[in-house]
This record gives sequence, structure tokens and C-alpha cells, in this order.
Amino acid sequence: MTVPHNGKLFIETVGCQMNMLDSELVVGALRKEGYSLTDDVQEADTVLFNTCSVREHAEHKIYSALGRLKYSKLSRPNQVIGVLGCMAQKDQELIFQRAPHVDMVVGTGQLAEVPRLIGAAREHRERSLAISLDRKEGTRAEVSDSFQSYDPLREPEMRPSPYQAFVRIMIGCDKFCTYCVVPMTRGPEQSRPPKDIRREVQILADQGVKEVTLLGQTVNSYKVTQDGKLYRLSDLLEYIHDVDGILRLKFVTNFPKDMTDDLLQAVRDLPKCAQYLHVPAQSGCNDVLKRMKRGYTIEDYREMFGRIRNTLPNAAVSSDFIVGFCGETEEAHQKSLDLIRECRFKNSFIFKYSPRPGTKANDLLVDDIPEDVKKRRNNEMLTLQNQISAEDNAAFIGRRVEVLVEGLSKSEVKRGDASTDAGPVQLTGRTTCDRIVVFNGNPRLAGSLTTISVEDCTPTTLIGSIVTHQVQHGSSPLLPILV
Ligand code: 5AD
Ligand code: SF4
Repeated sequence: MTVPHNGKLFIETVGCQMNMLDSELVVGALRKEGYSLTDDVQEADTVLFNTCSVREHAEHKIYSALGRLKYSKLSRPNQVIGVLGCMAQKDQELIFQRAPHVDMVVGTGQLAEVPRLIGAAREHRERSLAISLDRKEGTRAEVSDSFQSYDPLREPEMRPSPYQAFVRIMIGCDKFCTYCVVPMTRGPEQSRPPKDIRREVQILADQGVKEVTLLGQTVNSYKVTQDGKLYRLSDLLEYIHDVDGILRLKFVTNFPKDMTDDLLQAVRDLPKCAQYLHVPAQSGCNDVLKRMKRGYTIEDYREMFGRIRNTLPNAAVSSDFIVGFCGETEEAHQKSLDLIRECRFKNSFIFKYSPRPGTKANDLLVDDIPEDVKKRRNNEMLTLQNQISAEDNAAFIGRRVEVLVEGLSKSEVKRGDASTDAGPVQLTGRTTCDRIVVFNGNPRLAGSLTTISVEDCTPTTLIGSIVTHQVQHGSSPLLPILV
């Protein structure tokens, strides 16, 4: 007997791009089975949370959302509630204990099972726990096998953007930074074969995708042997570069130690590669980096940064920082600020240290920086970074940039009345350096490369207008297009 349900699916996704991709793929699989998305949780017979464990706050958010659903099954006996992703892998049975109304807990390595498990939950009202082995529960091969990369083909109409797509090139992480849960929640590092990646990029290009972002927790550690040849990220970029229709290739996130010259040269020599590198430093102080077990010194980071500047003088570099890590002194914090001043990152993602169960830092170090100090350091760092971002953005005023048009700007999406036949609306695009640019234009420009003259800026956004004609007066040369 099939238990009736209204086919409405609500999904909340928190966390990184890897999670966004996972949700897109799960939603795609469920839509194939007739589900349709709703953004009203009250209306849904199927409620999924794709979760993140990187900081405690992200977990709180999900447990609170689950708490709000405690009684919803009374009015919807056929409702299925599922917790997917990192928190599922990390907390396992604990989720059922804290939220007994949850029907399924599905880890990052079992996402292909989601449609079947929803069916089982609804038919038999049976709870399921589908998770991978803990890293110490088997040999490396056994643990790796228990984390299956989820990369089904995508229907074009099911993608969030027709022109941009994420493509996973590896899963897991073997770096074991002492503060981080990812090696536990996403398992051992495993790279996908280049042939599979190229096939996926080709299919996406055939569907109209113009920009592909290759995803990996440490994307530049990518390593696979195919037909007797070793492929690193530089080789992979070359291998997929000639796929027709793709205009831009990006990759995130990079690990500083693996930022080798061959990769920088590939970004320099392959014209489709974005001139943008996200290479988290985490701290500017050697003592802190050592306690984080990042595997490099600040001198190593500077040396790497110098190589980026030499090989890719126009590239934008962004970073992540953790403030208030165990034992971080005021002097150590100042060293992080110095690094930001010196490198002038395009932007930095700044996080207050959040102790995570199961990590080395949680077991062996004391979370000794008070919350108000973490907050103050966070604000100081943000203020400095914003000031640098604003200064660097201001240097673009009066220049021209080439953008890949992404579609309607956020404010236009909020207004919600833009049609392709209406007049110009506010659009958004990105430069090859990943700078966001807003300008007025026809929505039909989405997916194309367009030249914008920059007239104003904020710390996060360039503001300009489309260059419609390029008449050269007298001998004054046109301003060069900047990246
Ligand atoms: N506390 C705070 N920030 C963290 N990150 C990872 N683990 C933690 C933690 N326990 C940050 C790092 C990483 C980013 C994705 O999240 O800066 O690069
Ligand atoms: Fe976490 Fe470090 Fe791996 Fe990044 S490199 S995912 S911070 S363990």
C-alpha cells in the first residue's frame, strides 16, 4: 500500500557550497519522483534539513528548527522529517534522542539513499539511520568505501541557476586541523576520476552552463591516476578547459601548502580560469597555526602569497580567519591583522572559534578566550578587512570590467516583478576576480560576458553601467578592461 502524501518538499540548507550542491542533487532526485518544493514548512509532508557541524551555532539553528516541528506530526501523520549531512554523520543516534519526531538521519556519504528512506519511513513508519563508518572504525579503504560521493546527473530545469553550476571533484579531508570536524563528517579524502568530471562538465555545458565551480574541501590537493597518468588540479583544469560553452572555471577551497606552481601557471595560462583564489590562512601567528596543526608557518604562507602575486599579478585572493582560538594572545591577534594589511585580501570570512566535539582542539586544548574578546577581535578584523575591500574596490571607479552576468540582483529578486520583456532591471554579475558588480540591463543578458563601466562601490560591490559603444576620441586611449 502506498501511503498518500501531498508531494510538497521543504528543505533547509546550512553550511558550505558542498552542502548547497548536495541539497540541489537531493532535491533533483526527489523532483524526479514527483515532489515539488515549497518554502512553507507548514505545508510540507516531507521536511529535510541539510546540516553543517563546522560551528556550534549552525547545529543550534537546526535543533531549534527541529524543536519547532515537535508537534507537527499530530496534524500530519504522514509527515517525514529527515536530518541530512554533516550533523547526521556527527551526532548520529543523538539526533533521535534530542528530537524523537525525526524519521531519518542520513550522513554525507548516503545521500543517494534519501528517496528510498523517505519511502520506507512513510510506508512502514520505520526510523532509519544511514551513516558512514567513523574514521577509526575500519581500515582506510573500508572507511572510504562507506563515504560515497553523490554525483547523479542533473536535470537542467532543476538547477538553481541555468548558467552556473558546482561540480564536485573530491570529497573528504585528510588534513585534520585540530579545530575542524570535516575529516570526521565527510570522511577520508577521495578524488573523482577526471573522465567522470569532464563528462559532467560537458553535460552541464550542453545544458547552457557557462561557469563551473569545482568543489573540494582542499580542492588543490586533488590527485587521481587515470590511464597511468597522474592528474593534479592543474592537469584536471587543462583536461576540462576545452569543453565548448564553458566560459569560466573556478575552484574552491584551497589549502595553502598545496598551492603549487603548476596550479598557478595553469590559472595563468588557461584563459577560462577565474583570476581568483580562496586560500584560507586561519591565523597570522605561528604559535596559533601550530596549535591548529595547519602544517605551515606564516613564513610559508607569505612565500606562497608571493608566488601567487608573481605568477598572477591581477588575481584576487581571499581568506578565512578564526579569531579567539585556544591560547590566542592579543599579540597573536595583531599578527593576523598584520597579515590582512600585508596581503590585502579581496575579502575574508571571519569566524569566532567554536569548540567541536570529536576534534583534537576540543579534547586537548582549553577554549580560554572569553566570548566578548572573541567578539571584539572579530569586529576589529572585520573593520580592517572592510576598509581594505572598500579601498581596493574604489580603485575600480572609472575603469571597465568584464563580468559574467548572473541574473537579477538581490533587490530585484525581492521585488519579484521583473520579466525578460520589461525594460532594464538591476542585474548582477561577477568579474573574473570574483568581484560582484551591479548594473542596469536587460535580464536576457544573463549568462553572457558584458563590459561594465564602474561608477561607484561599497566594500562588497562595484556599481556601474553597461558600456554600449566604445568610441575613441582623438588620441586618448580607452581605459583598459581590468579584471
Ligand atoms: N570554529 C570556528 N571556525 C571554524 N572553521 C572551521 N572549524 C571551525 C571552528 N571549530 C572555519 C575555518 C574554515 C571555515 C570553513 O570555517 O575558517 O576555513
Ligand atoms: Fe577542516 Fe582543515 Fe580540512 Fe579545511 S583543511 S576542511 S579546515 S580539516
